[in-house]
Amino acid sequence: MKRGLLLLITVCLVFSATLVYGAYNPTDPCISCHDTVTPGIVKQWQESKHSKVGVKCYVCHRAKDDDPAGFDHNGYRVTALVTPRYCQSCHPKQVKEFKESLHSAAGLFSLSSYAISEGERVTADNITIGKNKNYKTNFSRETAEAGCLHCHGTVIKVGKDGKLINWPNNGMGRFNPDGSVGTCTACHTRHAFSVAEARKPEACGQCHLGPDHPQAEIYEESKHGAIFAAKGEHWNWDVPPGQWGPEDIEAPTCATCHMSGFGGAVESTHNVSARLKWELEPAFSWPTSEKYLKGDEKFSIDPEIAQRYEKMYDLPEGSLRKVATGLPNPFAIAKKFAPEIYKAYVGPGKWWEKGDTRWDALQGDARRSPEAKRADMVKVCTQCHSSSWVNGELAKAEKVIDVYNAVALGIKKKYYDPIKKEGLDKEIKFNGKSEVDTLWHEIWHHEGRRWRMGAFMQGPDYALWHGSYEMTVDGAEMANWLDELRTRAAVKKKLGLK
Ligand code: HEC
Ligand code: HEC
Ligand code: HEC
Ligand code: HEC
Ligand code: HEC
Ligand code: HEC
Ligand code: HEC
Ligand code: HEC
Repeated sequence: MKRGLLLLITVCLVFSATLVYGAYNPTDPCISCHDTVTPGIVKQWQESKHSKVGVKCYVCHRAKDDDPAGFDHNGYRVTALVTPRYCQSCHPKQVKEFKESLHSAAGLFSLSSYAISEGERVTADNITIGKNKNYKTNFSRETAEAGCLHCHGTVIKVGKDGKLINWPNNGMGRFNPDGSVGTCTACHTRHAFSVAEARKPEACGQCHLGPDHPQAEIYEESKHGAIFAAKGEHWNWDVPPGQWGPEDIEAPTCATCHMSGFGGAVESTHNVSARLKWELEPAFSWPTSEKYLKGDEKFSIDPEIAQRYEKMYDLPEGSLRKVATGLPNPFAIAKKFAPEIYKAYVGPGKWWEKGDTRWDALQGDARRSPEAKRADMVKVCTQCHSSSWVNGELAKAEKVIDVYNAVALGIKKKYYDPIKKEGLDKEIKFNGKSEVDTLWHEIWHHEGRRWRMGAFMQGPDYALWHGSYEMTVDGAEMANWLDELRTRAAVKKKLGLK
């Protein structure tokens, strides 16, 4: 009996020693092997803050008991997917704020490109292939993985052989098999996990670029970006959040304005939605308040500006006064295209407790009034500028929203809607869409965003030539389509052609 107890104690001691050894011994068993297996990873880790504070390989990679991604590896139960749930024990604030931001909904938004409509197959390499429901990917899951899902995040599953399916993927709103969403490595690459890296515009520019959301390019051409390019390498990037301020950098980066604790005036946040007064990515823009995010109410355009475009487009008075709100709704997209994902990640005790409207994707500081959110942004600007400079600049940008809303709605009501209502483009579809649909998509999704984003982030070339101007060109083309398609239909009818 005594000997049995002694044995048990010895076993316990050896077991816990192994755990501690695995975690904290300088000759960590993971490192001794991985030094030669993956020397790059070990070097990045050695240079990271984590190595200085004893956060070793097995501290992060030790699989939680209930994690389906865990596997046996040289005597240890490890996971290759170190999800936000694993960082949470030490960084609860960052994980919570990330969860409360629209960033964590990024994967929901792109489920139209994930959902397989027919012929799903997992290949021998654990890659899912097949036809999906998204025409922009040419209905291909293969392209979606390399495109949409690379930025937005895919659904990672564990195969029957224990291998991960659709991995690697570091998309912002990745669905993890342990029930969590997202990946912190979207901005803090493994294994440096560095604040300095995440503060630089290149971290955001991995995804925030290109024809439909060229924030990186806008930043590059802005005065802020020019100063960063000229002098950024000499700035202090490593200062802890809260202490970072205008004495460390001369011009702001994406992170400074949208996330950083800066100059002691505003708290650091991982909720990128917490400082936004407007929705600038949907077809029409509206303030980020509950009623508009839920789509309960339409948003009014400045009547004087609306009237200007009603006259210009020869539309009945009052027809350009209000724009639709609330869309796109990430939860509706999930329900429609991947109901199994909706069920797995939305509901009591799950990642999202509730998921009906776009409003439900925003929590915490993102639920404050649009004015309170704007006030935080202004606190950042006024560390370097006078308040009249800042308010003057932002007021100019806000007027652009009214003009954009009126022009986009004008093009839609005057040209696009009649084409669709009269079914004029039925015969000219490719991949299920006509050139008219593509044109309307580019008008708001590409040109309209460039116009609005350019105005708010000091990118004049994007606001004008890639934005407002291109929209005029495409609006004219839409007018032309209506005329041409009506003529075609009349000629066909006269000739008795189908
Ligand atoms: C005996 C040597 C050895 C030890 C000890 C070891 N590993 Fe590995 N590990 C490897 C090899 C070999 C690979 C495969 C590398 C490859 O595929 O190129 C690997 C792969 C991995 C992977 C990637 C898994 C995948 O599916 O691609 C992770 C994560 C990992 N190891 C973590 C750890 C951790 C954490 C420890 C310590 C608990 C550890 N390893 C200990 C040799 C070792
Ligand atoms: C702070 C937590 C953390 C620590 C410490 C850590 N890792 Fe990782 N590791 C991650 C994350 C996060 C990923 C990215 C996995 C994913 O989400 O796809 C990763 C990925 C990996 C991979 C697979 C990636 C690839 O490029 O093949 C290997 C192998 C790995 N880690 C080994 C190690 C080793 C060895 C150490 C110790 C020197 C270590 N890790 C320390 C968090 C950590
Ligand atoms: C066991 C606890 C622990 C875990 C797990 C952990 N960290 Fe850390 N992390 C720390 C500590 C301690 C620091 C140092 C804080 C300091 O210097 O003030 C740190 C620092 C950081 C920093 C700041 C580095 C810098 O340049 O200043 C980042 C970013 C970070 N961790 C990200 C992560 C991510 C992402 C994960 C999950 C993949 C993770 N950590 C997992 C304990 C942990
Ligand atoms: C891995 C891709 C990726 C990276 C890296 C990335 N983002 Fe995003 N971001 C997205 C996607 C996708 C969306 C749109 C979908 C969403 O918000 O859910 C988005 C949305 C946003 C929004 C709008 C949120 C809202 O409420 O409308 C802001 C602001 C933002 N990101 C800022 C940043 C900043 C600042 C960085 C860098 C520090 C960054 N992002 C890095 C993919 C990324
Ligand atoms: C290069 C990275 C990237 C790719 C590829 C990409 N997106 Fe995005 N997506 C983003 C970013 C960044 C945003 C945020 C845009 C902004 O706020 O200006 C976004 C925004 C969105 C939104 C609107 C989110 C909102 O808050 O309203 C939807 C929906 C969307 N993407 C779906 C898709 C689909 C579907 C695909 C593929 C057909 C795709 N995206 C391809 C990065 C990407
Ligand atoms: C959109 C990019 C982005 C993502 C995604 C992101 N971070 Fe960060 N992180 C940053 C930036 C930028 C900073 C510096 C903030 C500042 O300047 O105040 C930072 C700072 C940190 C710090 C240092 C905080 C301190 O007080 O020293 C930790 C820890 C951290 N992040 C953890 C995480 C964890 C955990 C996740 C995943 C849930 C994550 N980050 C996801 C951009 C990101
Ligand atoms: C000088 C501060 C500043 C810098 C630098 C900056 N932004 Fe912005 N950004 C803003 C402001 C102000 C808005 C409009 C906010 C609002 O909605 O009221 C905005 C809007 C956005 C939006 C649109 C969110 C929405 O409403 O849909 C995204 C996405 C974004 N920024 C990402 C970035 C990225 C990525 C970078 C770096 C490449 C960047 N920003 C650099 C201040 C900045
Ligand atoms: C870290 C300091 C810093 C922050 C924060 C900052 N700026 Fe600036 N900004 C500068 C500097 C420096 C210049 C260059 C001034 C000059 O023209 O000589 C500048 C220039 C500008 C310009 C002039 C652009 C041009 O092309 O001439 C505008 C407008 C502007 N900032 C607006 C803002 C707004 C709005 C915010 C907040 C959303 C902001 N800034 C945040 C430092 C900052």
